[in-house]
Amino acid sequence: MVGVGEVCGWSCLVWEVDSRSVVNGKKKNISGDRAGGRLEDSGVTRRRRRGLLGWYRKHFRALPWRVEPGRGRAPGSRKQHPNPYHVLVSEAMLQQTQVATVIDYFKRFVDEFSTIQALADADEQGVLRAWQGLGYYRRARNLHAAARRIVEDHAGQIPDSVDALLSLPGVGRYTAGAITSIAYGQRVPVVDGNVARVLARWHGISEAVDTTPVIKKLWQLAGHHVPKSRPGDFNQAVMELGALVCRPGVPDCGACPVARDCHAHQTGQASALPVLTKKAAPKKVTHHTLAVRHGRRYLFVQRPEKGLWSKMWELPTAERLAGRPGGDQLCAWADRQLGLRIDSPRRVSGFTHQTTHRRIDFVIWTATAKSSMNTKGEWRALGRLNDLPLAKPQTRAIAAIQADEITD
Ligand code: ADE
Repeated sequence: MVGVGEVCGWSCLVWEVDSRSVVNGKKKNISGDRAGGRLEDSGVTRRRRRGLLGWYRKHFRALPWRVEPGRGRAPGSRKQHPNPYHVLVSEAMLQQTQVATVIDYFKRFVDEFSTIQALADADEQGVLRAWQGLGYYRRARNLHAAARRIVEDHAGQIPDSVDALLSLPGVGRYTAGAITSIAYGQRVPVVDGNVARVLARWHGISEAVDTTPVIKKLWQLAGHHVPKSRPGDFNQAVMELGALVCRPGVPDCGACPVARDCHAHQTGQASALPVLTKKAAPKKVTHHTLAVRHGRRYLFVQRPEKGLWSKMWELPTAERLAGRPGGDQLCAWADRQLGLRIDSPRRVSGFTHQTTHRRIDFVIWTATAKSSMNTKGEWRALGRLNDLPLAKPQTRAIAAIQADEITD
């Protein structure tokens, strides 16, 4: 059942961004805490932990960044344990992306950048190119910046303390918990979308799980659950349970090792939980992508440092043209934004691309430049784009232009 329910149904970044206030904030009691502080010493909990770990040993997916359960490093032991660099890379990739999608990207990435030093030495464009297709490219830029900081400030060793990890770009409480527990065997909890769903059902939390007080509560509960021995296996067992059994929608309670203690299962509410706050509908916008040709080459430009697809490359794209612009407006835009005089553009095709907050209608245009005197970008043949990182809508736009060239 690879791939079902692994992506948080809501933003995983919730677990990363809101977490610091939990670290530093005061504990606040909220309803939904049925087991509360009694969890830690409860015999039932100990038994359930064992059940969960037994289930994980049997059902875990062998993944390239994982070691077999039970083989994580115990203090003083020489047993095999996951490479902290592999844990860092995999956790960055797994934010908002399914395990099944990540596997090949992970293998290629650690093949190309085999150590934290190699990643730190790489240029950003190469790292973005290796990430191409995974989306959420800020993760790649943060990972790259984190690698540089680890080399500079930590002698190339991935830190083993939550505080040191939290000071790295892109590392929030979730990633810090995953690295310290999985790679270093420390008793530190993790909460991501899968863990939140499992805990919400297990403890019958009926408040929305993506609100600050409930997130705090979930971290407290996860902290109570995580054992001293094999905390990394335990954390991964809960995530794996969320991915494979305690799935969004209708979970497979018959296969669940904690069903007997699960409040939602016992009260028939499993498919009604977790509750999420209603999100605003994605904003509808239109982007006009202009493939400007000069001879056999097209103009590509790099997106700015901030915002969507930052530092990725693209065919020049107008994001703020009002209404349904015609060729004349595109000509004026090219003149203003690119300093380029072009012959009248022709509409080639269009498609819709969905991001977390936007529904973007792309309209693809083609036009011929009157000269290639332009300093803002690069003129490239479409067969020579291997080193330019391109987000998915751009690869679609390029495919549309290639198809148009053939039929033209
Ligand atoms: N999702 C994110 N990290 C994971 C991990 N280490 N195991 C299972 N699912 C995950």
